[in-house]
Amino acid sequence: MPKVKRDPKTISLELAKWAKTVSTCQRCQELAATRTQTVFGVGNPTARVMFIGEAPGADEDEKGEPFVGRAGQLLNKIIAACGWERSDLYICNILRCRPPGNRNPLPSEAANCREYLDAQIALVQPEYIVCWGTIAAQNLLGLTDPISRMRKKFFEYKNSRVLCTYHPSYLLRNPSAKKDVWEDLQILLVEMGIDLNTLPKPAK
Ligand code: URA
Repeated sequence: MPKVKRDPKTISLELAKWAKTVSTCQRCQELAATRTQTVFGVGNPTARVMFIGEAPGADEDEKGEPFVGRAGQLLNKIIAACGWERSDLYICNILRCRPPGNRNPLPSEAANCREYLDAQIALVQPEYIVCWGTIAAQNLLGLTDPISRMRKKFFEYKNSRVLCTYHPSYLLRNPSAKKDVWEDLQILLVEMGIDLNTLPKPAK
């Protein structure tokens, strides 16, 4: 089917309306009472690729943007290795509020936030989604498999092809898994028609 050209400005405005709604959300009492601010999502409103993480941490809660702390810095290096800039992608999380003490999101919290995630996916219409870590992968796809068994293949969600890989925070604790993430992303890049020989050389 031919792709209909969509107007990024119109989609940005729609995303901004959702971000405003989310900013006063009270669906999860504990999260609403403890957050500094909500963290909706950033990036290209017509991105080919959407990244979905788990939930904001302390740095994201302070800045209002996903993946700006230590894990985000590693994610930025991964993005650069793929030949992209952050602004090429759309980046968001399963939750839009920081769970206190960085605990895992509760199933009820993920369910409360799902309408917002689905609105973002419906507006951006990414061809590809990368789920970073178990929480993102299991929640988006409604599966219980460990992330190690969800890697290296594509799932479908709505009209997007979904690739799951390890979370950057896991890579900070287990640097030897970086090669696994790179393997996963190469699968994505090849599927997207990107010639791996054109990628930037890794910094020494
Ligand atoms: N970890 C995530 O999963 N998301 C963020 O935004 C930051 C850290």
